[in-house]
Amino acid sequence: RFTPRVFSGIKPSGGLTLGNYLGAIKRFVETQNAGTDSVFCVVDLHAITVWQDPDELARATREVAAGYLASGIDPERAILFNQSQVHEHAELGWIFNCVARVGWMNRMTQFKEKAGKNAEKQSLGLYAYPSLMAADILLYLATHVPVGEDQKQHVELTRDIAAKFNHDYGVDHFPLTEPVIEGPATRVMNLRDGSRKMSKSGESDMERINMTDDADTISKKFRKARTDPAPLPETLEGLAERPEARNLVGIYAALSDSTAEQVIADHAGAGWGAFKPALADLAVEKLAPIAAEMRRMMDDPAEIDRILARGADRAREIAAPVLTRTYEIVGL
Ligand code: ADP
Ligand code: NA
Repeated sequence: RFTPRVFSGIKPSGGLTLGNYLGAIKRFVETQNAGTDSVFCVVDLHAITVWQDPDELARATREVAAGYLASGIDPERAILFNQSQVHEHAELGWIFNCVARVGWMNRMTQFKEKAGKNAEKQSLGLYAYPSLMAADILLYLATHVPVGEDQKQHVELTRDIAAKFNHDYGVDHFPLTEPVIEGPATRVMNLRDGSRKMSKSGESDMERINMTDDADTISKKFRKARTDPAPLPETLEGLAERPEARNLVGIYAALSDSTAEQVIADHAGAGWGAFKPALADLAVEKLAPIAAEMRRMMDDPAEIDRILARGADRAREIAAPVLTRTYEIVGL
């Protein structure tokens, strides 16, 4: 009954990383280019679950938009907008706060990771964020959400919320959305500490590749990436117990639109002294044009704002009637 539609979002909470590019943006562009009805968002309301400097938030919002556009999101084909400009997100988020159970939220591993031992000191928003994320997705009756592995549990929660809403009100109003977690780079790891994923908000800049890093920086970061001393194995199985090697091979595979298996076949037995520079060259080749276009766009913030404002108008055309119907169902 639900027409296929993709929704996904990125937080403007710092500079975009190679993880965001390979795990999210690059795949969004492929989805759009395959002709799928697509809605992509800069999720600023999610960013403020942790304090953000207001000027920096505005800058990061435009940078995420520029990252989408420079990578190939076409605002005529896909809908591209900023979350807070479509107030329906916050409104449906509140309704979902009344559908989701405290016990469900208590099981969210990302909150536990982010909060660490300081759960009591976190914002209520950070705790409730998966419920707002469910609203982001279900406002567009999205059937599929391409995300990195870190977001799988939140998309599953979205299904639970949709199912409970439909059940509690005896309707078939919201779809049971599927996460789409595909490709060789759905969990790009930190270059210095292989136990953590590469993240915008990581502590040291050497741990991550930023989409806007220049060629020298990218080369230096890959050269200094932690690895074990052994050369690349002859087969994929040889990567099983080697997280750092697996990470770099996965990045290479994703950047070259290939598979880890193919990369291993092409580089079997190569030492890091050869593989790391090849990886750095490939990353520079793919990222440099995108970074240049991002810089060009960031010099004209008014143009980015115009694109986002028009995207918000288009988003509202879908979101407003879905919210109106939701209010009717609930009796509001
Ligand atoms: P971050 O964790 O860098 O702040 P977001 O939470 O805004 O990024 O996530 C935006 C998208 O990028 C999500 O789909 C998320 O799964 C994906 N993503 C983030 N980090 C990675 C990573 N290291 N590897 C693969 N995908 C990632
Ligand atoms: Na994340």
